[in-house]
Amino acid sequence: MNSLLDDGLKDARVLVTGAAGGIGAAVAESFVAAGAAVVVSDVTPVSEDLGARASVTADLRDTAESGRLVTAAADTLGGLDVVAHLAGVLRRRDIAQVTEADWDVQHDVNLKASFFLLREAAGLMARQGTGGRLIAAASQGWWSGGYGGSAVYAASKGGLVSLCRGLARTYGPCGITVNTVAPGAIDTTMLTDDLTADALDTILSATPLRRLGTAQEVASAVLFLASARASFITAATLNVSGGWLAY
Ligand SMILES: NC(=O)c1ccc[n+]([C@@H]2O[C@H](COP(=O)([O-])OP(=O)(O)OC[C@H]3O[C@@H](n4cnc5c(N)ncnc54)[C@H](O)[C@@H]3O)[C@@H](O)[C@H]2O)c1
Repeated sequence: MNSLLDDGLKDARVLVTGAAGGIGAAVAESFVAAGAAVVVSDVTPVSEDLGARASVTADLRDTAESGRLVTAAADTLGGLDVVAHLAGVLRRRDIAQVTEADWDVQHDVNLKASFFLLREAAGLMARQGTGGRLIAAASQGWWSGGYGGSAVYAASKGGLVSLCRGLARTYGPCGITVNTVAPGAIDTTMLTDDLTADALDTILSATPLRRLGTAQEVASAVLFLASARASFITAATLNVSGGWLAY
């Protein structure tokens, strides 16, 4: 952790959620490549090719699963230094068509489950007494309010940013940093599944870099926040949007 060249990630004990998804898989692979010991999790099975030590299938809408997951990860790794929480759900809908079920699933996964998971992990890290890093995936929507039928999703991500700021205040005295990354338009199925060509053109013309981001580019931001280089950064939201949003 002391050398300028040491990013502090070698042998770090890392839990990655949403690892069956585009960004989560890239994050898990990147931690493994950096020499970290990684446990992955998702509600659907995660590829064994990521190089994780173990994989735990868990539906985080069941809040009891957070405790089981954090305990399983810590037991496998001999403790826990980093949680990279990428699990998330987007239901893009015309606002007039949004149902209560659409509201519930997005807020349950993106916000409620995040609270129980991150609190569980922070509690364990506080008991360990060696600090820690919590990083969650917000979205440009936390700031913009969302585009193209994603107001409810945006509200859940706005809540997540506020939540992480509160957790940063709560756990900072234990040496635990809590940050979010806010991806813009990233080339994964979450974005591209039901995106029209017109909507894509609109996004690209509003993005100074004129392209979608890659999952790897979000992973780089997550690893930075987990690294020794980010040791005095907490309660931050890192804008990874290619300039789509400027703040
Ligand atoms: N792709 C983008 O453009 C973009 C933009 C902004 C923010 N994000 C956020 O980044 C994160 C990763 O997104 P992605 O593009 O990899 O999406 P993705 O859909 O590929 O991955 C999300 C993963 O979360 C998992 N998940 C969903 N519900 C779950 C539950 N109840 N319990 C456990 N796991 C669950 C899914 O199975 C999936 O593997 C998400 O939080 C997303 O909201 C993505």
